[in-house]
This record gives sequence, C-alpha cells and structure tokens, in this order.
Amino acid sequence: MASKLSIAFRKATRRDLPAITKIFESSLNTTHEFDDARGYLSEQMRDADNRFVVAEAGGKIAGFIQTDLTSDTADAINIDQLAVDRSFRHRGIGSALMKKAENIALRNHFKAVTLQVRADNDNAKHLYEERGYKKVGSHWWYYGDGTTAYEMKKSLVPEKPSTSGWHLPGFVKRWMGLTA
Ligand SMILES: CC(C)(COP(=O)(O)OP(=O)(O)OC[C@H]1O[C@@H](n2cnc3c(N)ncnc32)[C@H](O)[C@@H]1OP(=O)(O)O)[C@@H](O)C(=O)NCCC(=O)NCCS
Repeated sequence: MASKLSIAFRKATRRDLPAITKIFESSLNTTHEFDDARGYLSEQMRDADNRFVVAEAGGKIAGFIQTDLTSDTADAINIDQLAVDRSFRHRGIGSALMKKAENIALRNHFKAVTLQVRADNDNAKHLYEERGYKKVGSHWWYYGDGTTAYEMKKSLVPEKPSTSGWHLPGFVKRWMGLTA
C-alpha cells in the first residue's frame, strides 16, 4: 500500500506548463504523435473552452486533467487528457482528478462526461468503469498508431425512466388497490 500523501488540486497556470508537458510526454505521447507537445499544450491552455486542473504533491505536479467544454455532444464535457506521473500512481490521484472534471461539468450545467480511451489501455478502462463510465461506442484507427478508441460516457444526472413498456389501465389498478 502506498504511503499517505497530502495532495492539493488547483486550476493550472501557465507556470505549470513545463511539468504538465513532462507528464504528457512520458504518459500520453508515447507514440510521438505530437512533435511539439509543449506548443500543443500551450495552445490548449490558451483556449477558453478548456479547463486544466493539476494535482500537486510535495511541491511537485503529480498529474493533470484537461477537459473541453465544447465537445461534440451538447450535454457533455469531454475529458481530453488525463495523466499521473508514474511515481504518484495508485494513490487515487487519477480518480480524484476525474471527480474534479465531473464537478466542472456540473458547475457548468452539463449532464454528462465523455472520454476516449485506447482499447488496449486496461488500467485506464478499469479506472473509468469503477467511476461509472460505460462504453457507448468505438472509433476505429483513432490514434496515430492505428489503435481503436473506446468512447465512454458517464451520466451525472439520474436517467429519465423509460416511457415505453406496459402500463396497467386505470380500472385494473383501482381493482388491484394500487390507486384510489
Ligand atoms: C490511468 C491513470 C491516469 C490512473 O492514475 P492513478 O492516479 O494511478 O489512478 P488511481 O490511483 O485513482 O486508480 C488506479 C488504481 O489505484 C488504486 N488506488 C487508488 N487509491 C489507492 C491508494 N490510496 N492506495 C493504493 N491503491 C490505490 C485504485 O483502486 C486503482 O486500482 P485498480 O486499477 O487496481 O483498481 C494513470 O495510470 C496514467 O497516467 N496512465 C498513463 C496515461 C493514461 O493512460 N491516461 C489515460 C488516457 S485515456
């Protein structure tokens, strides 16, 4: 079991860019899809539709999450990036960052969160399933190396009960004593 660690979560600033880039390079850009990761992330941080949250532990950036408030689905925000530095993994930071993203969605009146995950990324898929995300589709050849992405979604509001199905007629319900 990993030792207890005090972790703070806050909105990222441009001063966090080098640390975020380092985590991005070692955890997400492993197939070198992005030649200029720092330039890419800098642009993403400048975009007003994106929210970056970092996890800080012992004065170090331990992980980050990037959410996009203008995803393809009108009622959902999308988690574009999530990564935790290798030395800080399995301490609940990834899950806590996801909770932050879900709170951002709720504060901005969105009803759901979507994300895309490599079909072969069992660690991340497990984490998402544990947090209530369900596979809702897949994107063939989504990543530069040809890997498929699973589209996952979590609803943050109770789903409306289905209006289809059987309904007992009023007189039967009264006869059965179900209504007055
Ligand atoms: C996926 C990723 C973000 C998860 O980050 P993390 O901080 O390790 O995630 P968590 O700690 O919240 O959860 C992971 C595991 O740690 C366990 N855990 C959580 N808190 C714990 C604690 N205090 N002590 C021990 N284990 C703990 C969880 O139960 C979970 O274990 P399980 O998968 O065996 O059930 C991280 O592995 C990563 O950066 N991977 C590379 C990049 C990546 O794949 N990103 C996702 C792209 S879609």
